[in-house]
Amino acid sequence: MGVKLTAVLLVFLYLQVSLCNGVSINGCRESERKALLDFKEGLKDPGRRLSSWIGQDCCTWSGVQCDNQTGYVVQLDLGNKRPLHNMFQYGLRSEQLEGKINHALLGLKHLQYLDLSMNFFGGCIKDSLEILSWVCSELTGHFPDWLGNLKSLRMLNLYYNSFHGPFLQLRLHSLIKLDISRNAFNGSVPVNLGQLYPKLVFLDFAYNNLTGVFTEAHLVGLAKLQHLGFSANEFRVDFGSQWVPPLGLKMLVMWNTKLGPGFPSWIQKLENLSAAVFSNAGISDSLPDWFWNFSKNLQIVDLSHNDIRGKLPTSLEHLSNLRYVDLSGNSFEGSVPQFPENLVYLLLFSNKIAGRVPKTLCYLKKLVALDLSKNQLIGVIPDCWNHSLHPRLFTFDFSDNKLYGGIPATLCSPSLAYLHLSNNNLSGELPLSLRNCKALRTLDLGQNKIGGSIPTWLAKSLLNLEVLQLRQNMLVGNIPPELGNLTNLRVIDFAYNHLSGTIPYNLGNLRAMKFAPAISYNRKVALVIYDKLAAGYVDNMEVLYMVSSKLVLGYMDSIKVNLKGRDVQYDKLLPLLISVDLSRNELSGEIPEELMYLSYLQNLNLSENHLTGRIPEKIGMLLRVESLDLSKNDLSGTIPTTMIMLTFLSHLNLSYNNFFGRIPHSGQFPALPDPSIYLGNNALCGFPLHNNCENIDGQSSVWSPKDEDEVEKIGFYVSIALGYILGFWILWGVLLLNKKWGFAYFQFVDYLIHATGDCLWK
Ligand SMILES: *[C@@H]1O[C@H](CO)[C@@H](O)[C@H](O)[C@H]1NC(C)=O
Ligand SMILES: *[C@@H]1O[C@H](CO)[C@@H](O)[C@H](O)[C@H]1NC(C)=O
Ligand SMILES: *[C@@H]1O[C@H](CO)[C@@H](O)[C@H](O)[C@H]1NC(C)=O
Ligand SMILES: *[C@@H]1O[C@H](CO)[C@@H](O)[C@H](O)[C@H]1NC(C)=O
Ligand SMILES: *[C@@H]1O[C@H](CO)[C@@H](O)[C@H](O)[C@H]1NC(C)=O
Ligand SMILES: *[C@@H]1O[C@H](CO)[C@@H](O)[C@H](O)[C@H]1NC(C)=O
Ligand SMILES: *[C@@H]1O[C@H](CO)[C@@H](O)[C@H](O)[C@H]1NC(C)=O
Ligand SMILES: *[C@@H]1O[C@H](CO)[C@@H](O)[C@H](O)[C@H]1NC(C)=O
Ligand SMILES: *[C@@H]1O[C@H](CO)[C@@H](O)[C@H](O)[C@H]1NC(C)=O
Ligand SMILES: *[C@@H]1O[C@H](CO)[C@@H](O)[C@H](O)[C@H]1NC(C)=O
Repeated sequence: MGVKLTAVLLVFLYLQVSLCNGVSINGCRESERKALLDFKEGLKDPGRRLSSWIGQDCCTWSGVQCDNQTGYVVQLDLGNKRPLHNMFQYGLRSEQLEGKINHALLGLKHLQYLDLSMNFFGGCIKDSLEILSWVCSELTGHFPDWLGNLKSLRMLNLYYNSFHGPFLQLRLHSLIKLDISRNAFNGSVPVNLGQLYPKLVFLDFAYNNLTGVFTEAHLVGLAKLQHLGFSANEFRVDFGSQWVPPLGLKMLVMWNTKLGPGFPSWIQKLENLSAAVFSNAGISDSLPDWFWNFSKNLQIVDLSHNDIRGKLPTSLEHLSNLRYVDLSGNSFEGSVPQFPENLVYLLLFSNKIAGRVPKTLCYLKKLVALDLSKNQLIGVIPDCWNHSLHPRLFTFDFSDNKLYGGIPATLCSPSLAYLHLSNNNLSGELPLSLRNCKALRTLDLGQNKIGGSIPTWLAKSLLNLEVLQLRQNMLVGNIPPELGNLTNLRVIDFAYNHLSGTIPYNLGNLRAMKFAPAISYNRKVALVIYDKLAAGYVDNMEVLYMVSSKLVLGYMDSIKVNLKGRDVQYDKLLPLLISVDLSRNELSGEIPEELMYLSYLQNLNLSENHLTGRIPEKIGMLLRVESLDLSKNDLSGTIPTTMIMLTFLSHLNLSYNNFFGRIPHSGQFPALPDPSIYLGNNALCGFPLHNNCENIDGQSSVWSPKDEDEVEKIGFYVSIALGYILGFWILWGVLLLNKKWGFAYFQFVDYLIHATGDCLWK
């Protein structure tokens, strides 16, 4: 029986092994050398990956491995294994082999291992096939029935395709792994799964369109099941509390399901459970007392975004395998428990956890992410972070609590990228030790009582800084001009302080404000890895740990900013935000013309300062500005005509200055009808004000309508060009959800995968 494969496919064939007791020889067998050359003949190899396939000894050719004793080719590894980051940069194509799995390969009689993953291959596969991985291939249509003939099939991986129609009913009695997640199968889950696939150990059908009710009856006969995943389907789950699930279950991954409202108490019988992922599962219940004791093997606990109540135990040290704990977005009470020393992720944000920050957290030296924000913690942040090196600590978030005292001098790590302590009652100055946090990307200390000045070392040492949030503190002194040197700085928020002096013209050098922001490839990879973790694919925590500490959290940063007159929590969109807010300080002097070179700036708020002079004519260069607030200063002059080029402007406030003359009547101006934005000026006229410009002597002659028309034309063309960009932003705005961490990411990953038409992780 031959099987035709005609798509981008990933095939791991484990051909049957014939044992041979051959004589010991050196080098390659001539017949096999010929077979390999025939095989090569039928391939397109644009990347010249098979260029070493010349000469007599085929055992030295790349990808070929022979048995030392017999000289037979036993392994052929032609998988496309370019390093991931390269792959994302340059794409797969150039390194791909294309062609047919032709008969020549059958000449390799002793082949045990064949890896052709991530290449384009068509051809035949023998029905002795045991493993078929056909993932990320944009395959669509009903699932081909002939697969039912592959009676020896042990593993069938079909995730990330677009198969639709009913759930597979193939009767594969040898099958131990079935993964059809992320397809479009619909209808209900068949009740005879246990008869179709009695040997199943791994079953995952997450992200399909399956409907109906999924009950314990569906799982009858699947006694060997260890992994069960069915997140994000349409069905309701109804497992009775007395249900005895397959007792060997280790991984239960069911987020985004209708599982609640009761807590799934049937898991209590699963003494070997290692992953319990019930995020956003509609659970509204209290956490049973036994939860932290029923399995010693718990590694991953994700109960986030439910409505689970209960007091956290004082210690979870007995769960020595615990690596990933996400209880965020619930109503947990009590104080921060003691955790086992190997914990990697601790996400407890948005609960009701009270008490002090325990010193024991300092000793979790493998931590990558620590997020206790939005709780009711009191007291000081302990100054013991030097007790272990925390080489991988990446995010430290204690914002929105009731902490006071200074920022601890020991709080740093070579990898710390996101430090959030906003909205507490912290005081003192910025500690010099922060200088050592060289990897810092976000420094978020807003809404505290931090005094002193903004140190120049900050600009000289924290060269990776992207977001500098110091809003609503007690900072004095000047804005250091050196900040202009920070090439990645995109968000500056110094509002509500007592900063004085002039706005340094050097801020006009801020490179990241002059170019379109982009989500880096690294972040995409990171998301997929995170996705795989929660789906139970990454069972090697060490891999997760290494990769994630560099990548995963990068995306999940979030801060609160004041935009368009409102406080907005920026989460997924944060990497795209470009903003300067210096409002409510004591800044004086003119608005430096150089600021107008920041052409990707979306928000500029300079209100409530003592700025003088005119609005620079070059303001027309702030083409992406959506919100511009210059109110409550001592600015004067006319409103520059070039402002009609600001086609994204939706919030403008020029009130309480000394502006005079005609308000431009084209561009976005007609769409800004609120007269309060011009209030308290000397002599402005025109829409939306009621005073007619003719009444204002002399001033109207400053304006030549012809000029305005000219500028308007330019503006029009520019806005057409920007249409594409705008479309892009809107899309992202809709897709990127307003939740930290958790399930929102999975949807984001989905988007990425569909948007790029590429599977990021195979
Ligand atoms: C075959 O050779 C490799 C490297 O030359 C060596 O590592 C391996 O142990 C050898 N295997 C046997 C079975 O001799
Ligand atoms: C599920 O079905 C709905 C309509 O019933 C459709 O809009 C949606 O795209 C489907 N989802 C998938 C993953 O196919
Ligand atoms: C499955 O989806 C197809 C369209 O994609 C629809 O025609 C069919 O009725 C659906 N089946 C069920 C059982 O919902
Ligand atoms: C749990 O794992 C242990 C050790 O591997 C094994 O002996 C035991 O049978 C398992 N329990 C169940 C219910 O599978
Ligand atoms: C859970 O186990 C720990 C350690 O074995 C023990 O101290 C604690 O009392 C147990 N809790 C419950 C609720 O059984
Ligand atoms: C940690 O820092 C504190 C004060 O900064 C110091 O007293 C202590 O000795 C340090 N501990 C270690 C282990 O370095
Ligand atoms: C900060 O401390 C002051 C007293 O020093 C107190 O009135 C205020 O409520 C505290 N704020 C927060 C957010 O804890
Ligand atoms: C940083 O900025 C200061 C002041 O703007 C300037 O004098 C200095 O040369 C800059 N340093 C670097 C390394 O660019
Ligand atoms: C600008 O800042 C002031 C003071 O912080 C604030 O009241 C105002 O709402 C901000 N303007 C915009 C458009 O966000
Ligand atoms: C503009 O600023 C003034 C003064 O701060 C304020 O009263 C007014 O409401 C603002 N208008 C808008 C539309 O934000």
